[in-house]
Amino acid sequence: MTDFDRQYSRVGTDSVKWDSIRETYQKDDLIPLWVADMDFMAPQPVIEALKEYTEAGIFGYSIFPESLYEAVITWEAERYNYSLKKEDILFSPGVVPSIGVAIQAYTAPGDTVLIHDPVYHPFANMVKANGRIVSASLLVERNDHFEMDLADMEARIVAENIKLFILCNPHNPGGRVWDKEELLAVGKLCQKYGVTVIADEIHQDLVFAPRQHISFQTVASDFADFSIILTAATKTFNLAGIKNSMVYIKDKKLRRAFKEVQEMTEQATISTFGLIGTEAAYRHGGSWLTELLSYLSENSRFTQEFLAEHLPQVKMMPPEGTYLAWLDFSELGLTDAALQKRLVKDAGVVLNAGTLFGKQGSGHMRLNLACPKKTLAAGLQRIAAVFG
Ligand SMILES: Cc1ncc(COP(=O)(O)O)c(C=O)c1O
Repeated sequence: MTDFDRQYSRVGTDSVKWDSIRETYQKDDLIPLWVADMDFMAPQPVIEALKEYTEAGIFGYSIFPESLYEAVITWEAERYNYSLKKEDILFSPGVVPSIGVAIQAYTAPGDTVLIHDPVYHPFANMVKANGRIVSASLLVERNDHFEMDLADMEARIVAENIKLFILCNPHNPGGRVWDKEELLAVGKLCQKYGVTVIADEIHQDLVFAPRQHISFQTVASDFADFSIILTAATKTFNLAGIKNSMVYIKDKKLRRAFKEVQEMTEQATISTFGLIGTEAAYRHGGSWLTELLSYLSENSRFTQEFLAEHLPQVKMMPPEGTYLAWLDFSELGLTDAALQKRLVKDAGVVLNAGTLFGKQGSGHMRLNLACPKKTLAAGLQRIAAVFG
């Protein structure tokens, strides 16, 4: 059994989550409930595999071992009924770097790329950084979760001659796990207009029962003809720092175009730590993941109940997946700047500002649930003490 209750001190470890905020906000004793990494130790077999490599002491260039491909193929097949061949799988240092590669491979400067609002902020950042234009379709809040506005997406695709759409499945920051009908509908729409789909599925394993992750390429037999999947073991198993991700491309033309850009920028070489960590996680991390999901689901339930009781003005969108909770503070009537300031300066907690994820994020904050319950409770109590 993993002790997810154990509180580790990450201060002084050069952690983005814990150490960067002291400089940003010029304040000590902040509780960080922001950036998406977890305050939990990785699964023991991953630690052992990395230790073994470290202790051998030679850190030369590595090939991609057969055993790694096998581990990836087995994980996707057994958990998601998603069938991959070795040749479908490329590796990359991260999902965000792959988004950059895909934008360069499938669009030209000045093209418009479709995303949702709100959505994981590097989508828009990467589109802009590559000299393309962002078209953001607002998600609709309905039935306590986000839904896509397909009519708006279609109108944008047509009016703005869109050729690329970046889907976040499961959705960060809303925690939405898109269901088969929605994926089918959005896929058919993209297929109709010749839009290539990048499906960022990095949160694929972080889904709470009875919801189930459905990979975009398993929705219909021909969806692999116009889509690529980006995913990783690093989010699931808290390995973000070791840098590795996978790109699944079945269509030969899409794969060739992606590889060409990867080669132009020498992005196909991955840290050996990433390769070893990914394989060990997929081979031996299953039971750790089961325990993690039950811990996260309890943290989610706890947060919802806490807010309902102590801070009913703040509404939480219950996540169907991810370890992120989308909180609506708009009833408090504060500006975004004032809300952020009061959270940091008065409450001493750091959340991600909703506006980071799009204009619809105004009045919202993203809360990271992946920490020991005591840390989470302390953060929530501080927030309630200021706003309750
Ligand atoms: C949707 C999404 N994609 C990608 C990433 C980051 O991926 P990577 O570290 O592999 O670039 C994150 C991290 O939070 C994420 O939430």
